[in-house]
Amino acid sequence: MTHILCVVGARPNFMKMAPILTALKAEGFAVTLVHTGQHYDAAMNDVVFEQLKLPLPDVNLEVGSASHAQQTGDVMKRIEPVLLEKKPDAVLVVGDVNSTLAAALVAVKLGIKVVHIEAGLRSRDRTMPEEINRILTDQISDILFTTEREAHANLAAEGVPSDRVVFAGNVMIDSLRANLASAVPPSQSVGQPLAVRGYAVATLHRPSNVDNAGILGPLLGVFRKIATSMPVVFPLHPRTAARIQEHGLTDFLHAPGIIVRPPASYLAMLGLMEGAALVLTDSGGIQEETTALGVPCLTLRENTERPITVSEGTNIVVGTDPEAIYAAFVDITTKGGKRGRVPEYWDGLAARRIAAALKARL
Ligand code: UD1
Repeated sequence: MTHILCVVGARPNFMKMAPILTALKAEGFAVTLVHTGQHYDAAMNDVVFEQLKLPLPDVNLEVGSASHAQQTGDVMKRIEPVLLEKKPDAVLVVGDVNSTLAAALVAVKLGIKVVHIEAGLRSRDRTMPEEINRILTDQISDILFTTEREAHANLAAEGVPSDRVVFAGNVMIDSLRANLASAVPPSQSVGQPLAVRGYAVATLHRPSNVDNAGILGPLLGVFRKIATSMPVVFPLHPRTAARIQEHGLTDFLHAPGIIVRPPASYLAMLGLMEGAALVLTDSGGIQEETTALGVPCLTLRENTERPITVSEGTNIVVGTDPEAIYAAFVDITTKGGKRGRVPEYWDGLAARRIAAALKARL
């Protein structure tokens, strides 16, 4: 029986891995799940695992939070003995977090095939830690599955042979489709009435946005301005909560109309996004989820590695200038926002395509 060792580390990995595990098992693969422990808080980890019905990991490396070098190094040191003991035929990694690169690097040096899900996405911003993780993981992967066709051109430009690359679609949207019917109604998750299309959702966690008070302050300022027109639900990532404290910006959290919440569970976030008038975010996954839901999204970054959410979906990459963000908000609320369509193969069947392709190739 072909044995695939699957690795998760951080929250955005979990919704990608859940449908893959199901599909691999259905194809008859033996599967081991390793959690690196990069995310460990109950809100970031346990609740999401439970909602996605992910099996408990066979191994938890418990690396926790640290600098990039330390976190990446700890995953590498701790996963090597696991790979030596379990001897999988392939290691499957998803996305672009530090755990993704660390596990891939150890596997390739042990002569184990590396499978990368969500390959080929590029922001072309090398100050973004995830961009480095993407480029390097793709270089050392044997089988690369993509979510959009532009990724194939990116990989070709970096010399990745095309016979390694398979267009499979978006596994994150598999999870969305499988769970949407169980989404928590927005009023229930925030504990106060919220009208459908009568509120905004905001999320921030990228170091480039939250570590610098000169960027974070104005972003919180524009949320406060938007909140004078409609409530803004603001689930706080632990990094963002810490930086708001450090930068002395807590006043923003008490502004009228700003509804601050701890990190939303997966099913709560689905419900919040589905009913929102718009979503303001610096997340990668949320750009995709709003496109799948047809809800307008303002991406508070200068670039995106997911261009199909702009060319076909509901996403606008607006940047971090508060005036531009506010103007885009007004545009959406007065004109109804961008109407997108759901991209090719974002159809709930991506994980099945991946499992079938692996069956043929491994
Ligand atoms: C990581 C990923 C990012 C992904 C994000 C989703 C990398 C380089 N980044 O960023 O791509 O979008 O996850 O959340 O891998 N913390 C907790 N509890 C936790 C996890 C984190 O309190 O369970 C706090 C710690 O203070 C930590 C900080 O959040 O220092 C950052 O965590 P880390 O995993 O290093 O990166 P993220 O910013 O979450």
